Amino acid sequence: MIHSRITGTGSCLPGDPVTNDALIAARGLDSSDAWIVERTGIRARHFAPEGMAASDLALVACRRALAAAGRQPNDIDLIVLATSTPDFVFPSTATILQDKLGITNGGAAFDLQAVCSGFIYALAAADKFIRSGSHQRALVVGSEVFSRILDWQDRGTCVLFGDGAGAIVLEASDTPGILATALHADGRHRDILSVAGQLSGGRPIGDPLLRMDGQAVFKFAVKVLAEVAEEVIAAAGLTKAQIDWLVPHQANIRIMQATTKKLHLPPEKCIVTVDRHGNTSAASIPLALDEAVRSGKLGAGETALLEGVGGGFTWGAALVTL
Ligand code: UT7
Repeated sequence: MIHSRITGTGSCLPGDPVTNDALIAARGLDSSDAWIVERTGIRARHFAPEGMAASDLALVACRRALAAAGRQPNDIDLIVLATSTPDFVFPSTATILQDKLGITNGGAAFDLQAVCSGFIYALAAADKFIRSGSHQRALVVGSEVFSRILDWQDRGTCVLFGDGAGAIVLEASDTPGILATALHADGRHRDILSVAGQLSGGRPIGDPLLRMDGQAVFKFAVKVLAEVAEEVIAAAGLTKAQIDWLVPHQANIRIMQATTKKLHLPPEKCIVTVDRHGNTSAASIPLALDEAVRSGKLGAGETALLEGVGGGFTWGAALVTL
C-alpha cells in the first residue's frame, strides 16, 4: 500500500516584524497594542514590500523544504499551491513557482483556493494524488500577501493579517505519514468573510478588499474546529490522548486555546506563531509546522493535528506523524 509522508518543511517571512504600535502609527489607526493583544494575541506581523509576490515567498519556503528533504527541484512531480492572493488572475502562482524553481520535468502544478483552510485542502489533495500512485513527490505550499487586499481604514481587519509562506515536501512511502484528512465546506456562510471584487473590462469592480464579520467567524470557527478534530482523530483510529501536538491555523489565540482545551492538551502542546506572524491565511499552518520542526519541538514519530478554517466557509484537518 502506498502512503504519503512529510520529508521536509520550509518557510519564509518577508522583511522585519511590524509591531502593533508601528502599524497603528504608520496607518493612523484608532487602536492600541493592548486591544490587539488582548482580543487576538497578535503582537507583530510581516509585510512583503512592493513588487514581492506570493511566488517569491513560496520560492524561498520551497527551497528550504527541498533542502530539508534532501531533494532537488526536478525530483518534484506535483506542486499544489494554496493562495487567495495569487500573483495574477492567470497563469497560476504554482506554474510561476515551478519555473522559478527551475523544474522542467513536466510535472503537474496548480493553485488551490480555500482561503485560510487552503493548506489543509492542498495537503489532503496531494496525499490523495500520491496514494493513487500517479505522483511520487509533491511540494505542498501555502503562500499569501494579504497586505494587498486589506482596507487600512478598517481597524477591525487590517491589524489581523500578515504575509508569508510555508511549504512541505510530501513523498510516497511504505509507512504512513498522513494518517487521515477531513475536508468540509458550507457555502451558505460565504458572506461573513470575503473579498467580493473581480476584474472586468480591465478594472476592479465590486469590493476588492477583505471584509469580515469577526464575531460570526469566531463562533463558526470554534464550533467546526472542535468537530473536525474529533472526526479526523476517529478516522485515523486514534484517541485524543494519542495526539502530541496541535498545529492550528493562526487567526486568534482565543480560538486556538478553545480547541486545545477541547482536545485536553496542555497549552504548551499548541504551536503558537500568531503572536509574531498574525494571520497569514493559507501560509499560517505550514509556517507554524516549520517552526515546530526546526525548533525541535515536533520530533520524529510524534503525532500532530493540523487544522484550519476560512472563507467559503471551508474547514478541515489532517493528522500527521513525522
Ligand atoms: O482566518 C480566518 C478566520 N478569522 C478569524 O478567525 C477571525 C475571528 N474573529 C476574531 O478573531 C474577532 O472577532 C476579532 C479579533 C476580529 C474581533 O474581536 P471581538 O472581540 O469579536 O471584537 P468586536 O468585533 O466585537 O469589537 C468590539 C469593539 C468594537 O467597538 P464597540 O462597537 O464595542 O464600540 C469594535 O469597533 O472593539 C472595536 N474594535 C477595535 N478597537 C480597537 C475593533 N477592532 C479594533 C481595533 N482596535 N483594532
